[in-house]
Amino acid sequence: MSPIQQVVGAITQYQTGAAALTRMQEALCLPAEPSARFTPLPSPGAQPAALAFDDVRFRYADDLPYVHHGVTFAVPAQGMTAFVGPSGAGKTTVFSLIERFYDPDSGVITLDGRDLADWELPQLRASIGYVEQDAPVLSGSLRDNLLLGNPEADDDALARVLKTTRLDGLIARLPAGLDTLVGHRGTKLSGGERQRVAIARALLRRPRLLLLDEATSQLDAVNEAALRDTVSDVARTTTVLVVAHRLSTVTMADRIVVMDAGRVRAVGTHRELVTSDPLYAELAATQFLAAAD
Ligand SMILES: Nc1ncnc2c1ncn2[C@@H]1O[C@H](COP(=O)(O)OP(=O)(O)OP(=O)(O)O)[C@@H](O)[C@H]1O
Ligand SMILES: [Mg+2]
Repeated sequence: MSPIQQVVGAITQYQTGAAALTRMQEALCLPAEPSARFTPLPSPGAQPAALAFDDVRFRYADDLPYVHHGVTFAVPAQGMTAFVGPSGAGKTTVFSLIERFYDPDSGVITLDGRDLADWELPQLRASIGYVEQDAPVLSGSLRDNLLLGNPEADDDALARVLKTTRLDGLIARLPAGLDTLVGHRGTKLSGGERQRVAIARALLRRPRLLLLDEATSQLDAVNEAALRDTVSDVARTTTVLVVAHRLSTVTMADRIVVMDAGRVRAVGTHRELVTSDPLYAELAATQFLAAAD
């Protein structure tokens, strides 16, 4: 039996390795953006950025249907804007366009009044902090994970950001503090903690515009409150755009952009929209309700 087991084991190992190699080759074959020159991150206290979409139409490929059918909205510098809408409305796509992972087919997106197409990519991306919907935390220590986007950040900046993201309490409780290993994909952290680690990582880059794609998963009350406080703190000095899935996030937004099927159908505050927009009222009553109490 034993040699047979060894042979079977070897075959399995070979197949895992071959699959990994194929994936690497796929990645290497992808078209690359022009290689980035080094761009310094914004200085501390840099001005928050203003953003505007003007009649943006976009589809992911020529043979796919349009995802954005003329999206128009404007976000002033500073403060928090929430995006809500049914799944597939095109909210995450708004963020991908801001990062210029894709270019719109028509229409104009401006940052600080300047067309995104006129920005140097490294300069544009240095201004933006992006926390994805399923923010990845990598195997390694907490410190490694936090400094990923800005290895030069000093201890003061780190301490400040940990305080903003309410992670200082967690780190004080951990026996190894910042050097605690978080496990593969951050399995030793809760969902809310993982998301705050991702926000802290983005904040260490001193973004002028923070994009936060809220995870759809439910958070416990403590984590939810911590996340809400974090976002409202950040919004005082940075322009924050949040794709919101929780009522607690939406109610504190300065303005809410309601998206449906690739269009902006209403903009306003929670109070205004609950009475004026039926879709928003329904979202607030159903999708968000679990978080309301
Ligand atoms: N990389 C992609 N390639 C092709 N189509 C895509 C891609 N990403 C998203 N889409 C399509 O674009 C549409 C909008 O997707 P998007 O991710 O912007 O929705 P969303 O509003 O963020 O939804 P959710 O609330 O579920 O996150 C969907 O129909 C989706 O299938
Ligand atoms: Mg999304």
